[in-house]
Amino acid sequence: MKKIIPLLIVAIAILSFSSCYYDKADLLYPGSTICDTTTAVSYSGKIVPLFNSQCYGCHRSGAGNVTMGTYATDKVIATNGKLIGCISYASGFSPMPKGATKLSNCNIALINKWVSLGTPNN
Ligand code: HEC
Repeated sequence: MKKIIPLLIVAIAILSFSSCYYDKADLLYPGSTICDTTTAVSYSGKIVPLFNSQCYGCHRSGAGNVTMGTYATDKVIATNGKLIGCISYASGFSPMPKGATKLSNCNIALINKWVSLGTPNN
């Protein structure tokens, strides 16, 4: 047990640093085109085009009883937590986009930002 506690502390430290990495990317690279989540995240300008290429193909027609494609429908999964759960491959959620590669960290950060801003319809 005495040996396990320092190992746990190291593990927690590593986990917390790694989870900060992408959050800090926009502080490290302000205005960067690599992953710019600093400028206002626009629903129509950034989120819709992303959903259009990655999600609407299946969900406009209600795949898996989840309908996307309008602000009202997109907001439902954003506010009930399923959107973030699925795109971040969280356990208990079906990984999305289904049958495709995981979204880039930048696109996940973008969606996270939109949700954390309260899903503005801008
Ligand atoms: C190839 C078709 C397809 C694509 C592309 C797709 N989905 Fe899905 N999605 C499904 C199906 C089918 C289900 C039903 C659950 C399952 O089969 O895993 C589902 C389920 C879901 C659910 C509910 C899952 C749950 O755990 O309750 C959400 C939310 C979701 N999708 C969001 C998205 C988002 C966001 C994208 C784009 C990033 C996306 N989907 C892309 C087919 C797709």
